[in-house]
Amino acid sequence: MAGKMTSDKIGFDAIETASVDELRHSQLQNLKKTLSDAYHSSSIYKKKFDDAGVHPDDLKTLEDLSKFPFTTKADLRDNYPFGMYCKPMEQIVRIHASSGTTGKPTVVGYTQNDIDTWANLVARSIYAAGGRAKDKILISYGYGLFTGGLGAHYGAERLGCAVIPMGGGQTEKQVQLINDFEPDLIMVTPSYMLNIADEIHRQGIDPQKLALRTGIFGAEPWTNAMRTDIENRMAIDAVDIYGLSEMMGPGVAQECIETKDGPTIWEDHFYPEIIDPITNEVLPDGEEGELVFTSLSKEAMPMIRYRTRDLTRLLPGSARTMRRMAKITGRSDDMLIIRGVNVFPSLIEEQICGIEGLAPHYLIEIGKQGNMDTVRVRVELEAGHSTPTNEQLIKLLSHKIKTFIGISTSIVIEEPNTLPRSEGKAKRVIDHRNQ
Ligand code: DLL
Repeated sequence: MAGKMTSDKIGFDAIETASVDELRHSQLQNLKKTLSDAYHSSSIYKKKFDDAGVHPDDLKTLEDLSKFPFTTKADLRDNYPFGMYCKPMEQIVRIHASSGTTGKPTVVGYTQNDIDTWANLVARSIYAAGGRAKDKILISYGYGLFTGGLGAHYGAERLGCAVIPMGGGQTEKQVQLINDFEPDLIMVTPSYMLNIADEIHRQGIDPQKLALRTGIFGAEPWTNAMRTDIENRMAIDAVDIYGLSEMMGPGVAQECIETKDGPTIWEDHFYPEIIDPITNEVLPDGEEGELVFTSLSKEAMPMIRYRTRDLTRLLPGSARTMRRMAKITGRSDDMLIIRGVNVFPSLIEEQICGIEGLAPHYLIEIGKQGNMDTVRVRVELEAGHSTPTNEQLIKLLSHKIKTFIGISTSIVIEEPNTLPRSEGKAKRVIDHRNQ
């Protein structure tokens, strides 16, 4: 196992630079074992496989995985809370849960080996973001049932960093710690980073003078336009970390600081596929669709072809051998259909971040007028910005949205610091049509 880092090398673990052949070989072996373990230790997987007429022995190549049935969030809900566990409670050492928008939370579980793998993959992720054992790291993801805080924490410790376990909230205190403890890195949602950045500005602190070097941002969609905005505001490098509770938590994929070209998927533990969300067919690399993962090492809760609902593309390896995923454009369940046009909040964010004078704080409100969907975009003015006028900003933003997305919107310019703020995942859309 990788230990505390002393010398600089490419990657935290040797497998990150292994050849593609070596990687595929290990994936196939681990996939066979995962399918067999799931089939023999879970009545749920056994029934799913039997109903689909497949047996773990049918998997001879990685491509054969497409014969196996999907697992969805509904499977976890139907078997709430612990029905998807494949190990007895004696072997479970941690339980996390993520609250969905409706109904019961999604519950996940970990054996000690799962926790060790997770810590190692987050250590690998922080290393890929340029973090080293000498660094201090502020963890501002929420601690608790959410996987962000504890997941980041154990990984940072595994790398040997000095961990500052702040958690989410208390924005003034966050700034005090950034100023006084001089962390080199911060792990936080990008939307909460923006709030911390506002507070830094409010206190008259010059971000250039802070020790902070890199932010590792994830848990919610954010655009490259937002990256540029955060990097400029904070004078740091901003890199993307991806993950989901069902597969583990943060650290399923991590963007490498040297390329900043989308998160590298830690493919030795999570086998990715992209499917057409309508026909369920597997799509070739490079094509956009729904990301599906099969775990290759999970013990407590193996996930076979788990449908993430996240929309992205698989890209060839760059800084590492493993494949990358393009920045997530949105979740299939976040997609707004406005008068027949598919709209993701991220598309609107891109337009907002590109306009000088507008702050990246926004809220999209969907309503109905008669039978017509209406979209109102409320966006804050940049603090201390006087030109251009509100009218010019409204005109510019609605024109850009119309041109690049194809929908008419009404734009409301709000005063700085007036829209609701998030301390974790931001809520960007309010859909009044369903109320
Ligand atoms: O959000 C785990 C996590 C914590 C990831 C901290 C990164 C940092 P869940 O609460 O289960 O787990 O939510 C998972 O969040 O399916 C995506 O829709 C979204 N998501 C996570 N990371 C990213 C990202 C954590 N980098 C869901 N970009 C996922 C876009 C992301 N969306």
